[in-house]
Amino acid sequence: SKHILGIKDLNANDLKLIFETAKNFKEVINRPIKKVPSLRDVTIANLFFENSTRTRISFELAEKRLSADVVNFSAGSSSVKKGETLLDTVNNILSMKVDMVVMRHPAPGACAFLAKNIDANIVNAGDGTHEHPTQALLDAYSMMEIIPDLAGKNILIVGDIKHSRVALSNIFCLKKLGANVKVCGPPTLIPKFITSLGVSVEYDIRKALEWADIANVLRIQLERQDIKFIPSLREYAQYFGINKQLLDSLNKDITIMHPGPINRGVEISSDVADSDQSIILQQVENGVAVRMAVLYLLAAKRA
Ligand code: CP
Repeated sequence: SKHILGIKDLNANDLKLIFETAKNFKEVINRPIKKVPSLRDVTIANLFFENSTRTRISFELAEKRLSADVVNFSAGSSSVKKGETLLDTVNNILSMKVDMVVMRHPAPGACAFLAKNIDANIVNAGDGTHEHPTQALLDAYSMMEIIPDLAGKNILIVGDIKHSRVALSNIFCLKKLGANVKVCGPPTLIPKFITSLGVSVEYDIRKALEWADIANVLRIQLERQDIKFIPSLREYAQYFGINKQLLDSLNKDITIMHPGPINRGVEISSDVADSDQSIILQQVENGVAVRMAVLYLLAAKRA
C-alpha cells in the first residue's frame, strides 16, 4: 500500500522490513552527523488536529534526519477554526506540492477517509480510538531490543483498553509477531470484542503481572471517558496502578513500558516510571528511527 493507516493492513514480512530498516536508521542517528539525504526531494506535511508532544516531534525529527522538507500544521491555529473542512484543508496544502501527509485526528477512520480522497501518501499518527500504528511499531521494536524474538512470549497491556488506539495497534502488531497478549484493567475499560482478537483478559493485576514478560502500561484517557469515570482515579491507582511495592512483591523481574503521556500516580507511580525497570524513554528514542523507516519505505514506493 502507499499508506500506513493501521497495523491491521501489514503482514509479518512488512513488520520485519520496517524493523530492519529502523535498526539501520538507529545507527545513523547515533552518529555525529545524524542526517541522510534519502528524502531530499520529498515534502511532508504534519497535520495535527489533536494534541501531541512525542509523535509530532518524533515525526518532524525523522523527516528532517531524512532531509525532507517539512511543514507543520496545528488545527487550533488554522482556518479549521473558521469552518474549513478537512478535505478542503488538505487539498489546499497539497496544492503547494506536498508529497506525504502525516495526520493525527480525533475521528476514527479520518486517515482512511483522506486516503480515499487524495493522491498523497498518508501516515496515520493516531486516529481517535482506532489505531496508532507507528506507536505499536516503536513499542514492538523496543520490546525486541529486550527479547529479540517475541514469538511465544507473554506481553501484557494494562489500563484503558477501551479508549486506546495504542492498545489496538499493539494487539495487531504483537499477534502478527507471534506473541501471547493479555489485557488487564477494570471491566468498564475493557471492551467485549477484545477477545475476538485472540487476546485473553485478566482482571487481577497481580496475576497478570506474574504471567507477563513485559507490561505496556496505558494512560487513563480522561478526555475520552463518555461517562463519569468508574472507578475513580484513586480506586484505579489502588487496584490497577503499577508501583514499586507491587513489582517488588512479584516472583520475577518484568520490563515496564508506557507510550506517554504519563498520569503519574494513577496508572504508574514515579518510582516505577523513573526506575531501571522502565524503558519509557528508550521507546521515545526508538520512535524517531522507526518513523524514519516508515517514511523511507513509503517514499521508496513512490519512485
Ligand atoms: N505516545 C503518544 O502518542 O504521545 P503524544 O500524544 O504526545 O504524541
